[in-house]
Amino acid sequence: MTSSSFARIVELPARAGETLTVRGWVTHLRSSGKVAFVVLRDGTGTLQSVLVKNQLAPESWARFSELTQETSVAITGEIRADARAPGGVELGVTELEILGASPLDYPIQPKEHGVDFLLDNRHFWLRSGRQRAIARVRNEIEQSIHDFFYERGILRVDTPILTAAIGERSGLFATEYFDEGNAYLAQTGQLYGEAAAAAFGAIYTFGPTFRAEKSKTRRHLTEFWMIEPEVAFNDTHDNMRLQEDLVSHIVRRCLERCRPELEELERDLSKLEAIVAPFPRIDYTDAVATLQQKGSTVKWGDDLGAEDETLLVADHDRPIFILNYPKEAKAFYMKENPDDPRTVLCNDCLAPEGYGEIIGGSQREDDYDKLVRRIEEEGLPMDAYGWYLDLRKYGTFVHSGFGLGLERTVAWICGTQHIRECIAFPRMMHRLRP
Ligand code: 4AD
Ligand code: MG
Repeated sequence: MTSSSFARIVELPARAGETLTVRGWVTHLRSSGKVAFVVLRDGTGTLQSVLVKNQLAPESWARFSELTQETSVAITGEIRADARAPGGVELGVTELEILGASPLDYPIQPKEHGVDFLLDNRHFWLRSGRQRAIARVRNEIEQSIHDFFYERGILRVDTPILTAAIGERSGLFATEYFDEGNAYLAQTGQLYGEAAAAAFGAIYTFGPTFRAEKSKTRRHLTEFWMIEPEVAFNDTHDNMRLQEDLVSHIVRRCLERCRPELEELERDLSKLEAIVAPFPRIDYTDAVATLQQKGSTVKWGDDLGAEDETLLVADHDRPIFILNYPKEAKAFYMKENPDDPRTVLCNDCLAPEGYGEIIGGSQREDDYDKLVRRIEEEGLPMDAYGWYLDLRKYGTFVHSGFGLGLERTVAWICGTQHIRECIAFPRMMHRLRP
């Protein structure tokens, strides 16, 4: 409960002249003996407060010497406009209360720490200005996605995390499920999204997904968040238009509303300003030819690796679509391409500057017999897909959808090297704590 005399730092510039109490954590301390400065962080901003010895009750002045980095405090005083102060205001302290002491061995100090140390101390690392900036950009991206779909009347549907059906080829986390055998943590909400699209027309899911992948790359987490729209009667071309509209909407919103955060992250904004639909569409077969010319050893039939993706986007200032991959490189549910049955009607969307695949999408196989054959070819347990096949039996329909990886999108927009910084508590092969 915030009572009216408490204020958050972000609100202070509009309240100059008032006497208020601000609560937060100490980040910096400085004293000349007669005047002391406490810099405070409350998550909404930082505030410099000034204590003048001969204007303060002795017990308040004495308390200054007990402060350490990360002590939580409540500081009361007058908010004064000051053009030199960060945020344009400072607080002239009349009262200082210590809420929680912080021992001097606080692990994170103002010096270089290795990333493993920082990850072990993620619960403290989150308190840094850089991590706050990333968290705010992530929040803006999430909100912009909800707004995008809401404005188009596309319904959000929450799909289960405990599942019986397998959606993707990557590894599974299994857990015992009473008398039902194994349950798997969802790799995707897509299959349920398809059922929901037949019920509600156009839907999207937004939730955590899990991949037991032994990848230690800077783009892989074992738990990541995915946004999966699924739209009845959209073909693969409609699907790509929806993707480029969504991605350019997200970037625009971040440029409009997260400039201070992107500047704190030292992001080159001109790179983001170039992200405008339409995005180039490149056939997989042409992409392989281009890659071979550039010296890649990729062969027709292979999925594209991270290095290939970087080579392909190098010629472009905006995301690109690579279309119609070979069947064997992709998941069972993608629709066979009528113009070249060796391939499927799908696309990956690759972010510029080497950030790699941020979206995988496809038109779905809507032919009952072809889908049965693909499930058999992949050696998947047919009995788990009865309900999914029913969608092709009772009123089958052209439909398409895609999955946008949230952390990869955050990493690209923030310009971070590794996606582990793009989620509050990352889960990776060797990291389950904190
Ligand atoms: O390409 P993927 O595997 O596609 C699907 O899961 C489909 N069911 C989507 C759909 O059509 N509804 O994953 C989609 C996106 C990738 O492009 C990537 O951005 C992200 O999810 N992703 C990961 N992000 C972080 N760590 C991982 N291990 C990821 N695997 C996929
Ligand atoms: Mg993919």
